[in-house]
Amino acid sequence: MYERTEFWTEGASLWLPPQGSTTAHEIDALFNFILWTSTVLTIGVAVGIVYLAWRYRRRSPADRPVPVKESKALELSWSIIPTLLVLVVFFWGFRAYVGTSIPPVDAYVVNVKGQKWFWTFEYPTGLNTDELVVPEGQPVKLVMTSQDVLHSFYVPEFRIKMDVLPNRYTYVWFNAPARGVYQIVCTEYCGTGHSNMGGHIRVVGRDEFYEFLRTGGGDAGADLPPAEYGEQLYTSKRCNTCHTVDGTSATGPSWLGIWGQPRPGSTSGVVDDNYIRESVLDPAAFIAPGFQPQMPSYEGQLDDRAIGAIAAYIRQINGAATPADLAPPGGAAPADTLGTADAPEGGAGDPSEPVGLDEAQQNE
Ligand code: CUA
Repeated sequence: MYERTEFWTEGASLWLPPQGSTTAHEIDALFNFILWTSTVLTIGVAVGIVYLAWRYRRRSPADRPVPVKESKALELSWSIIPTLLVLVVFFWGFRAYVGTSIPPVDAYVVNVKGQKWFWTFEYPTGLNTDELVVPEGQPVKLVMTSQDVLHSFYVPEFRIKMDVLPNRYTYVWFNAPARGVYQIVCTEYCGTGHSNMGGHIRVVGRDEFYEFLRTGGGDAGADLPPAEYGEQLYTSKRCNTCHTVDGTSATGPSWLGIWGQPRPGSTSGVVDDNYIRESVLDPAAFIAPGFQPQMPSYEGQLDDRAIGAIAAYIRQINGAATPADLAPPGGAAPADTLGTADAPEGGAGDPSEPVGLDEAQQNE
């Protein structure tokens, strides 16, 4: 099964990535035609320049050049050949454009929202996820919009790329015939976290897809203790693009060393669950001194349980987690889990550590 989750580091190559959609071969064929035609023409022109410069070099101080005479055949050839080439590229490109722009009528529609700096997907059933899961061999139409600035939705293996704009819908479609995991990349500079604005498309079998829809994507954190679920959200909701957990400042303040401290950006109160909750839902409510009001609202993105989990995680990395936070819901905490209550593992929440459905599936 094909799998690429870190586009810029895994299997990097000079050549095009594998063709993951039914329309990819058409794009590649045209691209390769233009590439090799240009290569041949460039080499031909360069060799011609060198040869002619040598052939007609000045041979003596009193060189008398022969006047250049018209050559019908030569002039026709340099008019007709490029015209034909350009026409071939036009019709070929137009065909490929129509084929990749107009989705089949039976396409499955998923809404896509881009925002600083992650993607969310909304299914016709109302399900919201941060990973796009689609059935294999099924045309999928994406209806995309942005909550803030310009983004661009790019899936290298599918050879699809489309701008995502605020206050407007744009569309793109694909049909992925093979199961696997493919990476989404944002290709429109959209701020500090742009280069980390990725995401995954998981192409699964039909049964697995229906199961995914039925169980709400297995709710990645349903059977996790709050602090662990919060750690997962820290990565999956891209909190890590702005907030560190090691005390260093990034676009936003670090999550380490804040719990129980006076509220940044406020004259009263300390950082507690309510402070976290309000900061998540209405980031402009408190702006920590020295930082810009850059954070988007997570209203509608995180439910109460998720917000509580994030607060629990922040509490945990600050060494203030209670045994209840670490207990799986509805069950007594295992002894080894309790042991970590006072001494959270170092480096909890390594931002580079992929946390996702794979882990959740193993837990099922
Ligand atoms: Cu979003 Cu770059």
